[in-house]
Amino acid sequence: MKHYPRPEPGGQPPLLHPPYTSNIRRAPSRPLIQLPHTLSELTGPLYGHNPIGETDNDLTRQHPGEPLGERIVVAGRVVDEDGRPVPHTLVELWQSNAAGRYRHSVDNHPAPLDPNFTGAGRAIADEQGNYRFVTIKPGAYPWRNHPNAWRPAHIHFSLVGPCFITRLITQMYFPNDPLLPFDPISQSIPDERARLRLIAQFDWSLTQPEWALGYRFDFVLRGRDATPFEGQS
Ligand SMILES: [Fe+2]
Repeated sequence: MKHYPRPEPGGQPPLLHPPYTSNIRRAPSRPLIQLPHTLSELTGPLYGHNPIGETDNDLTRQHPGEPLGERIVVAGRVVDEDGRPVPHTLVELWQSNAAGRYRHSVDNHPAPLDPNFTGAGRAIADEQGNYRFVTIKPGAYPWRNHPNAWRPAHIHFSLVGPCFITRLITQMYFPNDPLLPFDPISQSIPDERARLRLIAQFDWSLTQPEWALGYRFDFVLRGRDATPFEGQS
């Protein structure tokens, strides 16, 4: 039966990585039983994109005022292992505000919420697999995984292709972040080269004079250079 290929081992984070403590209770304790995908998983429900709104990919224009923080452009391509574009992929992101606070009921980090920042956006990749967001640089935040644990600044991404089981989730980091070597989530990826693929590249061509710094981040869906995704091992 036709199925979507499962990732090759290596380059992807393991399901169980004990230094990431909340993952201990979440990871399966027995070997996975792999089942063939069913027809309904492959053909439906076809992910029906609600119309993408004008400000869905610009998190700085979703409220009456502009959010506080460092305005950035995050853009790149969704490609396969040969660099061919994967068009029409739904790219969603969520992130903390510039102070490291999520607009979420369980986030009680004593940093200010920003009335002009929700922290969620989405875009559809074009024919060439290009996507683009305008947002603000997220702040680091504490997360109690271990004493004095702080997450490096990051943006969460979800990609959805032609059906719901094609959903992939990952996190993007920023260059030269001093917290990265101490972060159990990014460090759970065994291969250092794969870890580096989760760090966006500062990009002059995306940087807009006197307005925003640009970062490039490509998603490689499979193959040797695949982006590390969560829960794929
Ligand atoms: Fe986060």
